[in-house]
Amino acid sequence: MLWWLLGGLALLAALLYWQFILTEGVYLGRRMVVWLYDLGAKTYDGVKDYDADDEAYYLGEPLAGRLAGQPQARVLDVATGTGRLPLALFQQPPFQGVVVGLDASKGMLEQASAKLADYWERVALIHHDATRLPFPDDYFDAVTCLEALEFLPDPFTSLTEVVRVLKPGATLLITNRVGLDRLFFPRRTTSTTAFIHHLTSLGLTDIQPQTWMTYYDLVWAVKSNQ
Ligand SMILES: C[S@@+](CC[C@H](N)C(=O)[O-])C[C@H]1O[C@@H](n2cnc3c(N)ncnc32)[C@H](O)[C@@H]1O
Repeated sequence: MLWWLLGGLALLAALLYWQFILTEGVYLGRRMVVWLYDLGAKTYDGVKDYDADDEAYYLGEPLAGRLAGQPQARVLDVATGTGRLPLALFQQPPFQGVVVGLDASKGMLEQASAKLADYWERVALIHHDATRLPFPDDYFDAVTCLEALEFLPDPFTSLTEVVRVLKPGATLLITNRVGLDRLFFPRRTTSTTAFIHHLTSLGLTDIQPQTWMTYYDLVWAVKSNQ
C-alpha cells in the first residue's frame, strides 16, 4: 500500500514538473503560460544570464547585416519577452530603424520597457497575443520570434501570421526546439527537416538552420518575392 502511495506521489510530482517547469504551462492553456511569465518576469533575465557578446554575434550583428542598406527598417519581434532581440539590434550602430516588440505578458513587457529606455523613440512595445498579429500584410523588413513558437496557443497559425506580415524579400529569424528536450513538447515542435519543409510550404526561401543553443537552433529564411 505504501509503495502504491509513494509511486502515485512520484508520478504526480513528475507530471507537475513536466507541466509547470519543463513546458511552462503550455498544455494547460494560454492563460497559464502568460500567468507564469508574468510571475517570473522580474527574475527572467537573471535566470537566462545572456552573454552580451553572444547576443551580438548570433543575433544583433547578422540581423543588422541583413538589414544593411535599409536604415529605416521596420522590425517586428514576436513574443519579445524582456526585449532581448530589440536590445541586441539597437546595440548595432548601423541599424537605425525601429522595432515593434509584441508579447502577451504585461510583466515581461514592463521589463522590456525598462531595459530599452535608452531607445524609447525607436521601440514600440505592444501587449497582444501572437495568434493574430495586428499589422497589415507585407509590412515588416524583418520578423523575429525567439524561444517562443512552442509556447504559443497554435504555433503553426502563428507561423503563418509571421510570414503574412513580412514583406516579400524580407528576413525571418526564428528558433526551432531541438535535442531531447523536444520530446517534452509533443505536437508543438517538429524536427528541423519538417520545420524547413513547413517554412518552404509557407513561401520562404534561402532557409538556413544554424546551431545555436543546446535546445534551440536558429533558422534564417527569406520570404519569396513571388
Ligand atoms: C521563453 S520567452 C522568450 C522571450 C524572448 N523572445 C527571448 O528570446 O528572450 C517566451 C515569451 O513568449 C511569450 N508568449 C507566450 N505566449 C504568448 C502568446 N500567446 N502571445 C504572445 N506572446 C506569448 C511569453 O510571455 C514570453 O515572453
